[in-house]
Amino acid sequence: MSRYQGDRLKDITWDAFEKLTPGERAPYFQNQGRQFHAVYAQQFDRAFMDRICALATMTRKLAKTRGGMTFLQELLSEKRAMLYFAQPSSRTFLSFLSACQILGLKTSSVRDTSTSSEVKGESPDDTVRTFSSYVDMIIMRYPQGGFADRVAWMLANTERPIPVVNAGSGKDQHPTQALLDIYTLQRSFESRGGIDGKRIAFVGDLARGRTVRSLAWLLTQYENVHQVFVAPQQLQIGEDILAALDRSHVTYDIVETLDGVVGDLDAVYMTRIQDEWDASGESRSIDISQYAITEARLAAMKQDAVILHPLPRRSELPPHVDRDPRAMHWRQVRNGMWTRAALIAHIFERDGEIDRYYADLVR
Ligand code: NCD
Repeated sequence: MSRYQGDRLKDITWDAFEKLTPGERAPYFQNQGRQFHAVYAQQFDRAFMDRICALATMTRKLAKTRGGMTFLQELLSEKRAMLYFAQPSSRTFLSFLSACQILGLKTSSVRDTSTSSEVKGESPDDTVRTFSSYVDMIIMRYPQGGFADRVAWMLANTERPIPVVNAGSGKDQHPTQALLDIYTLQRSFESRGGIDGKRIAFVGDLARGRTVRSLAWLLTQYENVHQVFVAPQQLQIGEDILAALDRSHVTYDIVETLDGVVGDLDAVYMTRIQDEWDASGESRSIDISQYAITEARLAAMKQDAVILHPLPRRSELPPHVDRDPRAMHWRQVRNGMWTRAALIAHIFERDGEIDRYYADLVR
């Protein structure tokens, strides 16, 4: 890997690294001011998000023309990426796969751990080290939080450190979903002063929704964004996120129903109840209608508000809402592909080439 030697992650023991907070870990994933791994939302500051959004837009526009697409297809044609998805995924998997294809990266994938040597008793470290030997980047989804960190640290201590991109880690983080959410919000509010100063609510399962946990943190990087957390008590947002908001002097409300707040919001980020994490059916008693978009709530919402959802959805976002001009959830899916392509180009330091090609094109 070009200039990266994995130096910072090499200087720290795993035991010491594991004790650090996400914010303290962030610098270890960077190399000379550039993100090398993408593991936590806490790695991304405002300048980085603005850059990724600009790159995503250029990539999106370039991909519309034959010349632009030919250029993109060459950009990383000598690289290979491994998609290691040890947890169900179709959207995020295909989004990363498409992003790789746009940039000409070759891909391989492991999606079913029962077909890998882990069933023969191989350690997860060895499994991933084997995968890493064939490729130049690992994009991974894993049921436990902290394993992407472990892989980044482990590979830094080999002769062949390669970038690790977290495509969802347990109930903890989903940093690239949060980036695409930011891109969608930024595009939605483009003619209204951007994301700064907006009131943004998160609705549903905020305790186990990793996309919410990552996005709530990213929004702390914008000016005067007021956050509202709408959830039943047992599924409210984690104390660690609230502590991060407090440290950033972000204002927020914690409420149990949508009705009292829906009329004041600029964005409503819906989520499903993630009952696959239930230990003993504890979310079965929840009245989901309190955490759903209904005709009455649509009528109460501002005319220029936007509705987001990371998908997959259930009854909290009925299909008839798709026709409402405020619904952005299908745009999020498409934006995800451009945002991930932008992130991958940044990690491999090819983003400058996109700037130059784009500048030539629009000149
Ligand atoms: C989410 C996830 O996997 O965290 N989906 C996604 O990546 N777009 C949300 C979910 O599973 O409900």
